[in-house]
Amino acid sequence: MAGHQHGAPKSGSNPLPGVKHIIAVGAGKGGVGKSTVAVNLAIALKAKGLAVGLMDGDIYGPSIPKMLGSHDAPRGLAPNRIAPNEAYGLKFMSMGLLLDPEKPMIVRGPIVHTVVRQFLGDVVWGDLDYLIVDLPPGTGDVALSLAQSCPLTAAVVVSTPQDVALIDVQKAVSMFRTLNVPVVGLVENMSWHECGSCGAREEIFGHGGAERWAARERIPFLGGVPLHASVAAGGDEGQPALVDPRTPDHVRTAFRVLADGLAEQTATLASLPKQPLIQIEGLS
Ligand SMILES: Nc1ncnc2c1ncn2[C@@H]1O[C@H](COP(=O)(O)OP(=O)(O)O)[C@@H](O)[C@H]1O
Ligand SMILES: [Mg+2]
Repeated sequence: MAGHQHGAPKSGSNPLPGVKHIIAVGAGKGGVGKSTVAVNLAIALKAKGLAVGLMDGDIYGPSIPKMLGSHDAPRGLAPNRIAPNEAYGLKFMSMGLLLDPEKPMIVRGPIVHTVVRQFLGDVVWGDLDYLIVDLPPGTGDVALSLAQSCPLTAAVVVSTPQDVALIDVQKAVSMFRTLNVPVVGLVENMSWHECGSCGAREEIFGHGGAERWAARERIPFLGGVPLHASVAAGGDEGQPALVDPRTPDHVRTAFRVLADGLAEQTATLASLPKQPLIQIEGLS
């Protein structure tokens, strides 16, 4: 595998030389399906034959261990070296694996930066084509730490079709643009519902708003994900929709289209000049 193609300005400043593309999945709002999209996107990329890692950037409210049904404490390999867990062929790391689930989680602001750096630098990710990072809601410190600590290839933003969700995703896009991270795709989650008995497509929240908004913002529209019980159940049962044999084809196809679109967009980016790591005063 080729080394990382994004030229870090200082030697030693890229903690992930073996990772080709680091993709942040974000949105302004909680509950729109960021984690669901991140997990299934990662699995869809894996199914294309790529090596994929998933980093749970939601330090305050990690959901990846539950979604992947894997809660084992990660193995320490050496001081400051930990092996990522593996599930469904994905390497992953989450704050949820490191804390006692019985105890309330108290993570202070400055700790977040340290955790993000450790998840990048101390976890032995090895050679990956994609590292997908599931971000917490909001436009806060995790995205900032991430952009400062590794050469982010791009961001994908997730919205629902409602206008109110687009206002929030707009904030996320502004944040990524401030951080010099190209936004290579909008995903519209809970886009439509396919009637189980007649197969009709019901667009509960209206049609086309997110796609029009993406066109105005010059953000590629990667596609929509239907609202479907298999997607919700996957999140709860530790068996993501894409690995559950009961998941209907129209749901599978939706996630595959997203993965194809992301792969296409990152291939385009690879031919463009690279962004340097951003430096932020007062953080190191
Ligand atoms: N397309 C979908 N169809 C049905 N349920 C969904 C879909 N996307 C997400 N959900 C459910 O919505 C809830 C929030 O999703 P989640 O991915 O945790 O959002 P976020 O990470 O943005 O907070 C979860 O219970 C999840 O299972
Ligand atoms: Mg989440």
